[in-house]
Amino acid sequence: MATNLYQMKLVFATHNLNKLAEVQKMLPNSIELLSLKDINCFEDIEETATTLEGNAKIKANYITEKFGYNCFADDTGLEVKTLNGAPGVYSARYAGEPSNSENNMLKLLSELNKKTDREAQFRTSICLNLNGKQFLFDGICTGEILTIKQGEKGFGYDPIFQPKGYNNSFAEMSSEEKNKISHRGLAIQKLIDFLKQLN
Ligand code: IMP
Repeated sequence: MATNLYQMKLVFATHNLNKLAEVQKMLPNSIELLSLKDINCFEDIEETATTLEGNAKIKANYITEKFGYNCFADDTGLEVKTLNGAPGVYSARYAGEPSNSENNMLKLLSELNKKTDREAQFRTSICLNLNGKQFLFDGICTGEILTIKQGEKGFGYDPIFQPKGYNNSFAEMSSEEKNKISHRGLAIQKLIDFLKQLN
C-alpha cells in the first residue's frame, strides 16, 4: 500500500501527555497523531529491554500486533559520561520505583557531587512500524549536568540539563526552543523527513 502523508493516521505509543504535546507541535497537520487513549489502549507496556532501541521496539510492536496500527514509539535516556552512560535506559527509575523526577535529579546530583566532568547527553531512539516494515531513528543532544536545578518548565531531568552552547537549562526554555535542539526533536525530525519522502 502506498503511504500518503496527507491521510496518515499514526499512533504515538506513549502515555506521557507532555511528550505527545511536544511531538504534536512538530508534526504537519496532515499527520493525524493518535494517542494510546485514542485507540483505547490503557495498559502499561513494560519496558524490559536493556537498550533504548530495544524498548522502543517492544512498545511499537505491542501496538502494531495488538491493535493493528502503524505506530511509532520512543525511548530516551540521559547518558552521563563519568557514570559510564548511567542512568541511560534506566533514567525513569534511577532512584527506584515508582518513577519520580525530583528523586532522580537528587540522586544524579549526589552521584556527581564534586565531580568536575559533568558531560552528558540525552539520546532518543524511535522505532517506526509502517505497513509491515520497521525503521529506527535516533537523536542526540549533548550538554552538561548543572550543579543545581534551574527553571520550572519541561519535565524529567530538564532543570539540571544544560545543552552545549547555551547558558540556560532545558527547564528555562520554551517547548519550541527545546524542540529545535533536543534529542527527541532531532529524532522526530528524522522520522518526519522519512515520512515526507514516502509521498
Ligand atoms: P522516556 O523514554 O521518554 O519516557 O524517558 C525516560 C526518562 O528520561 C523519563 O523518566 C524522563 O525523566 C527522562 N527524559 C526523557 N526525555 C526527557 C527530556 O526531554 N528532558 C528531561 N528528561 C527527559
